[in-house]
Amino acid sequence: MMQKELTFDQALSVLTQHGQNHVLQFWDQLSATERSTLLAQVAAIDFDVLARMADELKTHLTATPDASVATAVPAPVVDPDADSRASAAASGEAALRDGRIAALLVAGGQGSRLGFEGPKGAYPVGPLSNASLFYFHARKIVALKQRYGQPVPLYIMTSDTNDAATRQFFTDNNNFGLDPADIFFFTQGMWPALDENGKVILETPGRIFMSPDGHGGTISALAANGGIADMHRRGIDTIFYFQVDNPLIEIADPAFIGLHLEQKADISVKVCAKRDPQEGLGVVVISNGKHAMVEYTELSDDQKQRRTANGELYFKYGSVAIHLFSLEFIAREAAGDMPLHVAHKKIPYCDANGTTQKPDTNNGYKFEKFIFDLLPDADKVLCLAFDREEEFAPVKNSTGNDSPATCRAALQAKWRRWLQQIGITIPEDIPIEIDPAYANYPEELRKGLLLHKGELP
Ligand code: UTP
Repeated sequence: MMQKELTFDQALSVLTQHGQNHVLQFWDQLSATERSTLLAQVAAIDFDVLARMADELKTHLTATPDASVATAVPAPVVDPDADSRASAAASGEAALRDGRIAALLVAGGQGSRLGFEGPKGAYPVGPLSNASLFYFHARKIVALKQRYGQPVPLYIMTSDTNDAATRQFFTDNNNFGLDPADIFFFTQGMWPALDENGKVILETPGRIFMSPDGHGGTISALAANGGIADMHRRGIDTIFYFQVDNPLIEIADPAFIGLHLEQKADISVKVCAKRDPQEGLGVVVISNGKHAMVEYTELSDDQKQRRTANGELYFKYGSVAIHLFSLEFIAREAAGDMPLHVAHKKIPYCDANGTTQKPDTNNGYKFEKFIFDLLPDADKVLCLAFDREEEFAPVKNSTGNDSPATCRAALQAKWRRWLQQIGITIPEDIPIEIDPAYANYPEELRKGLLLHKGELP
């Protein structure tokens, strides 16, 4: 998109009007390049959003927690038997054969917990090959085209912090076997952060601190960058949405798609039983008659621990951000504003002398949009239970739970189960890895091995 250009006077005027003229306090010390960068940043600020941020911050600093959470009840979850899943899978496969499904991968986050230099999708998780998270996702999409004869176009959301590196990584890896015509990169928006007085934080004398606007930024960024138009052009009607950090995922799971289509859902959400009451997953609830997500930080301890008469957790299921969206719903939602979420964070800032300081304590507020805030707008929502052993092993932290070690172990356990199902037992201490484009189900593995041995024509 073309950005309007501002002169110094125009920038000063608009900043002064919004109480942000401190942004230009170091102007006299800036080089010509720094000046034009700063003016471009000012030109890109959406002052309406900035006003919403300041309001949200005031509410955040003064208000009590959202009272509706206390009365929220868990949303109904379907957990169909094998026969019903198989018949739903048949309709999902028909939609895949008709080329109606797109994959939408959100990869704009900063991966700060993992502490990896570079895009998180480039993180090596392959137990033998050190193949990246992106490799596992892309190879599954290669497999979908092989299986159903139609491409599942892959829309990848990056952010300014990792866009160039992500595109380069795909190029360097020959797009992992995907046709580049079926990959659509787009970048999400970046937002400034505010101090407790609602002032935009400068990171250096000539640069406003900016960070990605959250995974909820996907919808507006997809629309603004022509992604929704591209989907319409291709005859897509359903979007499979997923995150970069979970290589166990069943991308475009046919049974999930089939159920979503049968239910005519606007949004479908895959949910799994929480590991323990404290696991940091959001729960889908019904609140004020609508579906909504309650983050684990919002649930009281009593709510987290509450059990039903049969001893199960009352809020048993957590969401792991695997969704299906109807394109019609997304196209409609893209035009609207989403709620803002505030997070108190350590933000590098420029002190009065113009030196950048990295604080040890939280000093400012970042704002993000969350994808699950679309839920209350949906007329029809489906929550489908899944088995986490089969589909969820994210890389979030560098060690402990949800780390590269637990993820590699889960991948290998799954492949070992496939091998066992076709009568091959591999000792636990021998690492294994299977290319998803070679086999993504035990039956495909069996066929592949027989072909390899020349026992199939
Ligand atoms: P997470 O919230 O788990 O985080 O994002 P992260 O940003 O990768 O890592 P931390 O929290 O800094 O450790 C879940 C998914 O949403 C994407 C991430 O790339 C990941 O796939 N995401 C998150 C975005 O695409 N943009 C964002 O602004 C935030």
